[in-house]
Amino acid sequence: MNRAELIEKTIEFVKHQFQQNDASHDFSHIERVTNIALKLAIEEGISEQTQLEIIKLAALMHDLADWKYGGSENENAKIIQEFLSANQYPQSNIDQIIFITQNMSFRNELCRRSGEQTNPSQQKQNLELEKMLHVVQDSDRLDAIGAIGVARCFTFAGAKGNPLYDPNVQPRDRLSKEDYMKTEKKQNTAINHFHEKLFKVRDLMKTQSGKKMADQRHEFMKQFVEQFVDEWNSTF
Ligand code: ADP
Ligand code: NI
Repeated sequence: MNRAELIEKTIEFVKHQFQQNDASHDFSHIERVTNIALKLAIEEGISEQTQLEIIKLAALMHDLADWKYGGSENENAKIIQEFLSANQYPQSNIDQIIFITQNMSFRNELCRRSGEQTNPSQQKQNLELEKMLHVVQDSDRLDAIGAIGVARCFTFAGAKGNPLYDPNVQPRDRLSKEDYMKTEKKQNTAINHFHEKLFKVRDLMKTQSGKKMADQRHEFMKQFVEQFVDEWNSTF
């Protein structure tokens, strides 16, 4: 199987896995992230074909078996390993893809920041790989903010049955990994999610081109939440 066929097969595989997901996490999120990742990669000066292919496959597979939808912590790596090795993809590339998907999430960044241990083999990855990680990570984050971020946030809240807003429930200031993974409805208002996560995304961006895109999306979200709260307050 040539590489173009492998990409096609991966797309079909991922599409199938995402069939039942709500629109905050459906295949169109995967398509957007993949497209932004390739764009950021070029802007960041990544031009090597193998690297672009690794970025594309990592973006396509980054949300397979997401824990919020019932996946366990290592399930994502397992699925990627099984699928790609069954298709005779080189192991050294598979390792890089898994490194990217395992290190990109908000909750793992919280975990690294709070000083919990990460796997030592992950620490000595080379700079090129870090750069590829940053590109895919920034793309996923860009899709969580701006107008699409607003739409996804309320879609997620709707799918979980969470309230839009409750002025009596304060956003949690420093969200630990455990807090982030809690899913109590009352605490998890959609508006609190902006304060707890989405407004923090801009400062977590890693690539120059990603930062630029994030600035504009961030401003839009701030304006949205301000108006939401104004309308709410003038109602009660
Ligand atoms: P990550 O891959 O970093 O874990 P998520 O999977 O948490 O990112 O994000 C998936 C989508 O669901 C995002 O658009 C995010 O904003 C949204 N989302 C996650 N948790 C909540 C929540 N408690 N309330 C509203 N939206 C949420
Ligand atoms: Ni994602």
